Amino acid sequence: MNPQQEIERRRTFAIISHPDAGKTTLTEKFLLFGGAIQTAGAVKSNKIRKSATSDFMEIEKQRGISVATSVMGFDYKGFRVNILDTPGHKDFAEDTYRTLTAVDSVILVVDIARGVEEQTDKLMAVCRMRQIPVMIFVNKLDRDGKDPFDLLDELEHKLKIRVTPLSWPISGGATFKGVYNLHRSELNLFSPNKTGISDDVRSYTSLQDPAIDTILGRAAEALRQDVELTSVLPKFTKEAYRAGDLAPVFFGSALNNFGIRELLDTFVELAPSPVSRTTNRGTVHPIDKNLSGFVFKIHANLDPNHRDRIAFFRICSGVFKKNQFYFHPRLHKKLRFSSPVMFQANERNLVEEAWPGDVVGLYDTGHFKIGDSLTEGTSFFFKGIPTFSPEIFRAVENQDPFRAKQFEKGLRQLTDEGVAQLFTQQPGNRKIIGTVGELQFDVIQFRLLQEYGAKVTFRPLSYLKACWVESEHPGDAEEFFRFKRDQMAFDKDDRPVYLADSLWMLERAIADYPKLNFRFSAEVMLKEEEAVD
Ligand code: G4P
Repeated sequence: MNPQQEIERRRTFAIISHPDAGKTTLTEKFLLFGGAIQTAGAVKSNKIRKSATSDFMEIEKQRGISVATSVMGFDYKGFRVNILDTPGHKDFAEDTYRTLTAVDSVILVVDIARGVEEQTDKLMAVCRMRQIPVMIFVNKLDRDGKDPFDLLDELEHKLKIRVTPLSWPISGGATFKGVYNLHRSELNLFSPNKTGISDDVRSYTSLQDPAIDTILGRAAEALRQDVELTSVLPKFTKEAYRAGDLAPVFFGSALNNFGIRELLDTFVELAPSPVSRTTNRGTVHPIDKNLSGFVFKIHANLDPNHRDRIAFFRICSGVFKKNQFYFHPRLHKKLRFSSPVMFQANERNLVEEAWPGDVVGLYDTGHFKIGDSLTEGTSFFFKGIPTFSPEIFRAVENQDPFRAKQFEKGLRQLTDEGVAQLFTQQPGNRKIIGTVGELQFDVIQFRLLQEYGAKVTFRPLSYLKACWVESEHPGDAEEFFRFKRDQMAFDKDDRPVYLADSLWMLERAIADYPKLNFRFSAEVMLKEEEAVD
C-alpha cells in the first residue's frame, strides 16, 4: 500500500458521552464487529463509580484500565479504525478535551430518555471550537424515551449544531420495531439480542411497498408520516458534516447490538481520514514526507519497578519508524524509540512503523510534556492544544522538609502529565493546584507519596476561577497586577493568572480594565529549552 492509501484508510476518532449513555457498550460492540475482541464484556468500563471519590484502589484500577484501553485499533472492511478512549468521569474532563485534539472526528452517544446532559454539552463545545465532524448515536431505543422530533430539536438547540437523521426509529421502548435507513431505503428490524448481531436488514425501492405494512402493521403508516416530516430537516451533505456544521443522527441500541453495523459502515464511509493540522510554522499535511506529530497524553506506568511513563504520540505526517532518530524541538534533542507500542483492544504490540492517524505509545523517562512535538529536524509545535481554567483550588504543602526535592519533582512531573495545573504565588513561593474535579487531589496526594515519597496536605482556597491575563502593552497590566497582588499567580510557563474570588469580582475586573484580555483557556505553551541531559 502506498502512503496515500495508508492515510485514506485511517479513521481516528473518539466516542464521547455523558456517563452511562452507553459509550463503553458501543465501543465494545465496535470492537466485536472489528474482530478485535471475541466476547462481550472484554472491555472494562474505565469509569470510576460515583461512590468511589476517595478509593485509591479504584483510582489505581482506573489508571490501569485507561492505559489498556487508551487507544483501540482494529481493521474493518479495509479501513484502519483507531478509537481513542476518553475517561467517563467528569473530574477527568480535561483529559478528554486533550484527547479531542488528537482525533479527526467524534461519535457522540446520547441516551434517548435523558437527551442532552451536562457533559454532552461541554464536550460538544470543544468539538465546535475545533470544528470536529460529529456523528450522533441515539442509544437505548429498547427503552421508553423522548419523541425523536423533540430530541432532534433539543440536540440542535443545546448542542448548537444542525442535525439531520440518517435513520429513523419505528416506535420505541417495549414496542420498538427497528429503524428505517433514510439514506439507503432499508428497513432494519429489531429483535433483542445481547450477544449476536440483531440487525435484520431488508431493502425496499419505496416506502409505499405493501410488504412494509405486512411487517410493521399500524406502525408502517406512522413511519411514512414521520419520514415525510423529516424532509423539512436539513439535507445531509458530506461537506457540511466534514466541516463540523451538520451532525448526522442514528438510532439504535448498543446493548442489543442493534444499529451498530449501520453506524460503523456509514462512519467508515463518511468520516474524514487524517486531516491537515496547523503549527506555529504553517500547515502540516498527512501526506508530507517527513514525520511529525504531538504528544496529547502522558501516563505514568503502573509498574512500581519501572518508573517510566507512556507518552501517547499522534502521528500527523510522514511515517513513524522504530529505532529512527527524531527531533524533539522543545529540548533540541534527537531521540529514538526502541520499543514503541500500538494498542489493539486490550493488548500492546511492538510496532515497526505507523502512519498518520495512528497513535503510538512511547516509553518515556521524563522527556515529554503534553503538547510536545517530534519532527525530522525542523522546529515547530502543533497549535490548539488547550488547557482550561480550573475550578477548584488548593494550596499544596509539603509535610517533610527532607523530601523537598522529590516534592518539587513529583509536582512538576504530575502537572506535565496534565493531572492538574500548577500555579505559583509570590511572595513565599506558594504552590497552588487547580483542577476541574475533586478526584485529582486524591490522585495527586496518593501518587506523590507512592511514586516520589512526598507526603503532602492540601488547604482549600476559595477562588472561583483562574483566568490568564494578557495585554498588548506590558504597561497596561501593571496597575492591575499591583492592585490584585494577592490574587495573582503564575502558571508553569510564567504567564500571569488572575485567581478571581467571585463572579462579581471577575466581571468587575473585566469591566474596569478594558485593555486587558481575560482568557478562560490557554494554549499549551511550549518554549524551546536548552538541552538537558
Ligand atoms: P458509559 O460508558 O457511557 O458510561 O455507559 P455504559 O456503556 O457503561 O452503559 C451504561 C449502562 O447502560 C449499562 O448498564 C449498559 O448495560 C446500559 N446500556 C447501554 N446500552 C444500552 C441499550 O441500548 N439499552 C439498554 N437498555 N441499556 C443499555 P449498567 O447496569 O450500568 O451496567 P452493566 O452492569 O450492564 O455493565
